[in-house]
Amino acid sequence: MEKKIQTIGVLTSGGDAPGMNAAIRAVVRSALDLGIQVKGIRRGYNGLLEEDIIDMESKSVSEIIQKGGTVLYTARCPEFVKPEGQDKGAAVCKKHGIDGLVVIGGDGSFKGAQALARRGVNTVGVPGTIDLDISCTEYTIGFDTAVNTAMQTIDKVRDTSTSHERCSIIEVMGRNAGYIALWCGIANGAEDILITERYDNDEQRIINSIIEKRKKGKKHYIIINAEGVGDSNGMAKRIEAATGMETRATIIGHAQRGGSPTARDRVIASAMGSKAVDLLASGASNRIVAYKNGGYVDYDIEEALAMTKDIDQYLYDMSIRLSR
Ligand code: ADP
Ligand code: F6P
Repeated sequence: MEKKIQTIGVLTSGGDAPGMNAAIRAVVRSALDLGIQVKGIRRGYNGLLEEDIIDMESKSVSEIIQKGGTVLYTARCPEFVKPEGQDKGAAVCKKHGIDGLVVIGGDGSFKGAQALARRGVNTVGVPGTIDLDISCTEYTIGFDTAVNTAMQTIDKVRDTSTSHERCSIIEVMGRNAGYIALWCGIANGAEDILITERYDNDEQRIINSIIEKRKKGKKHYIIINAEGVGDSNGMAKRIEAATGMETRATIIGHAQRGGSPTARDRVIASAMGSKAVDLLASGASNRIVAYKNGGYVDYDIEEALAMTKDIDQYLYDMSIRLSR
């Protein structure tokens, strides 16, 4: 029979995402409910290597569900990519009696969790990233808040774009993924959505479309540019030169990572954190919690990392149809 888990560690790693605090809270309270102790590891794998580890009680996670960011702080830790760093991390877990670990982060962080699992520390990953770019899951913590933040900003840019009869290129985050751009493009009724997964670099088509819409009396022209497509400032200059329409680029940036999480992020993060604890308590290791068809499932980390996903073709086609 599996040895009962006595102490669970929890850390946040990689880029922060709104809702991570709700996940931490869920891990702490669900574990305590099962009679399992909890230790918080600060600043991701850095904190593990430096033994920046704190005891967590129910009270430690009071008043955090509504807060953006992560109370455990987060970081990137190059040392943890190396086997020596991973050996040290496993030894630190052993020293502190951490026999189960919840890692809240993205694919990179899950590779770290996998390395620890291979060294005898039971690990479960919880998908936390605004980018929605984790293939095994239909939802990642932070996406909804990020999209809503970006959407509100784009609405504001649209006001000034219309007043000045300008073209506005608004760049949203997402690393190499276009999910935030696609959702904002639809929600904001953009004239064009450029996403890494589909953009063919045909700037002339955009220029022709701007000229044509201008002739029809359109006052503004909003282009949502995914970060992975990049060069929004250069594109603005080229479009202005080719169309004669004043063009400005706005890069929303890290505002998309902050702010109070939406209800969707708080609820899904809570469920994922709780599920991670149940998995560890049942003796599972090397798993990732995923949201699928409205429910919560889990996958082997290796299997999950090998999965691929694409943006929703129906949404993409529909976005083009509605922008005509
Ligand atoms: P995310 O988790 O959001 O994908 P990163 O890719 O930056 O973010 O990864 C976060 C951290 O996870 C890295 O700084 C590193 O500590 C750890 N990590 C990334 N890749 C690996 C790997 N191949 N092996 C072990 N740890 C890794
Ligand atoms: O993964 C989240 C994310 O915000 C990406 O959208 C973006 O490419 C990256 O992190 C930015 O990272 P940093 O905070 O290191 O600038």
